[in-house]
Amino acid sequence: MSGFSITWLDLREDADQRARDGALANKAIAALAQTHAPQAPKLAVDLGAGTGSTLRALQKLGANDVVWRLVDHDGALLDEALRRHRKEFVIEDHQCDLQIIDELPLAGARLVTASALFDLCSKDFIHALCTKIGAQNTGLYAALNYDGSTTWHPAHPFDEQVLAAFNQDQQRDKGLGPALGPNATSALKDALESVGYSVEVTSSPWKLDSNDKALLQELIEGIRNAVADSLDHQALEQWVQFRLNNLDDCRCVVGHTDLLALPNAQG
Ligand SMILES: C[S@@+](CC[C@H](N)C(=O)[O-])C[C@H]1O[C@@H](n2cnc3c(N)ncnc32)[C@H](O)[C@@H]1O
Repeated sequence: MSGFSITWLDLREDADQRARDGALANKAIAALAQTHAPQAPKLAVDLGAGTGSTLRALQKLGANDVVWRLVDHDGALLDEALRRHRKEFVIEDHQCDLQIIDELPLAGARLVTASALFDLCSKDFIHALCTKIGAQNTGLYAALNYDGSTTWHPAHPFDEQVLAAFNQDQQRDKGLGPALGPNATSALKDALESVGYSVEVTSSPWKLDSNDKALLQELIEGIRNAVADSLDHQALEQWVQFRLNNLDDCRCVVGHTDLLALPNAQG
């Protein structure tokens, strides 16, 4: 089990899909089409696939002829992905721990993909993965990595302290080593450039408002849980109540980045 419920992944998916940089996603789809072996399947290996959010995002942009290898350690999420998509795509589900890099099923991949994954990962993991990807000359499309910025309207005097504590918590070990949190994208970029890749990074913020009340509510509760041990209890509860009381008038921007890295010959 991963701790990522189907309910939570479904709740965030609409905001994720709106946030993704469409132009970069289209370049990722174009990269999938490039090959020296045109008879080989258009295989994308999605790491930390959950219920298949990356598949759905690229499908919406017309990527219907992709063979997907979905990799996750949570069998329930993979089963849900298969239930949703096995009729329309060839899907290989692969249940394993991403940390066992040597055993990651990347063979034959034209593109490795991931969404909302790398901010959970450690620097060592990212280095080892990028070295492996570089050795087989495969591109990487990594969407929706949290960048450490969150802005709220209406503003509250405690916003800054809450954000600082939240970003600190983002660097806690979430099962993939001490997490890079907001530093994930720069670590990925450095690691991929060092193995000879061209890397493009674009901004893909969640832009939430009163139409996203359920997600906002979960986000606020999630932030409360993450920072409860590091902030004054009463001040935090006042902030939570203020945020929940102002959902009708709320605008919230949560910064993310998307990244596409291609071996220089393709870049
Ligand atoms: C934030 S969720 C993102 C899921 C999906 N990519 C999406 O965008 O909806 C992170 C995913 O990584 C998976 N994951 C976390 N740690 C993992 C590990 N050590 N090995 C394999 N999968 C892992 C979780 O099960 C979860 O599906």
